[in-house]
Amino acid sequence: MNEFAARLLNWFDEHGRKDFPWQKNTTAYRVWVSEIMLQQTQVQTVIPYFDRFVERFPTLESLASASQDDVLSHWTGLGYYARARNLHKAAQRVLDMHGGQFPISIDDVMALPGIGRSTAGAVLSLAYGQRHAILDGNVKRVFARHRALAGWPGKASVAETLWEAAEKNTPVSRVADYTQAIMDLGATLCTRSHPSCDRCPVAADCIALKTQSVDSYPGRKPKSVKPVRTTTMVLASLGGQVYLERRPESGIWGGLWSLPELGERTLDDWCVDTFGNTGAEILSWAILRHSFSHFDLDIQPILVRFKSHTSKVAESDAETWYRLDGVPPGGFSAPVKKLIDQLKKSENVAYR
Ligand code: ADE
Repeated sequence: MNEFAARLLNWFDEHGRKDFPWQKNTTAYRVWVSEIMLQQTQVQTVIPYFDRFVERFPTLESLASASQDDVLSHWTGLGYYARARNLHKAAQRVLDMHGGQFPISIDDVMALPGIGRSTAGAVLSLAYGQRHAILDGNVKRVFARHRALAGWPGKASVAETLWEAAEKNTPVSRVADYTQAIMDLGATLCTRSHPSCDRCPVAADCIALKTQSVDSYPGRKPKSVKPVRTTTMVLASLGGQVYLERRPESGIWGGLWSLPELGERTLDDWCVDTFGNTGAEILSWAILRHSFSHFDLDIQPILVRFKSHTSKVAESDAETWYRLDGVPPGGFSAPVKKLIDQLKKSENVAYR
């Protein structure tokens, strides 16, 4: 075994994290779900979501046969909902093409929606002990520092050099432990700011540490200013219910239930188009900013209270009246959930 891996594994035996829920009853399915959740979300946030998800969908078959609404409702608040849609689609594909057995070849795994090279390597090494390297954000930082590899890892040539380092250091035995160990090192010691180099098992030959330039690695992304987009969302409220629309499959928040947006229309036009009359009471709420990776979205919420004689009925399965004290029809984006919670509070005051 190479020196790097041997020292890392010694450290892992004493200090590694071994009590995550996906480290118990380990199956490829459970590891896969956890790795998808952990792609863009902190581990402490993921744990309760993971527990609820595998409680509701204990097997790949149960996930494949669930409705998209059911899957997305278990993702509400985690963000990056394409992860949930891809997970669902991939489960159906594994059922169709691999007889329900999570595939064992890395090419088959990488062909599934939502699984890139690093996630495929993580699942196959953690679940089956196959020798594959991983390279998530934390691991990129470890190798960028250890080998003093300059440049922003989002750039293909930099990523390629980092992959070479990752491949070279992956051992042939104890691969599952090694995979967890390198992630743990990045998450607990080789952190972005204030790394704990004094406790690091591979500090002795870390070039960034030796040259006192740990903070310079990995190289930063070239700066660009995030654009701000704006939208107006309508909380159409009627007798303890709010009117919701399901978003189209493609685009942001695809498949999630959302508040209608005015687009180019005036509020009065929208009310007449949708309900045949204008609301009895109109209230503008404070603007809510939601950050996406590529832009910020400023949401102007407008509460429109209708009188009970308004008789708009939901005409398709892409619209619904949601009873505020009832079960949500599916998943919500974080800002929509926040606005609906805010509406519950204000309508409780008004109705009780
Ligand atoms: N981040 C990504 N994968 C992880 C794992 N298996 N354990 C902890 N954090 C992770």
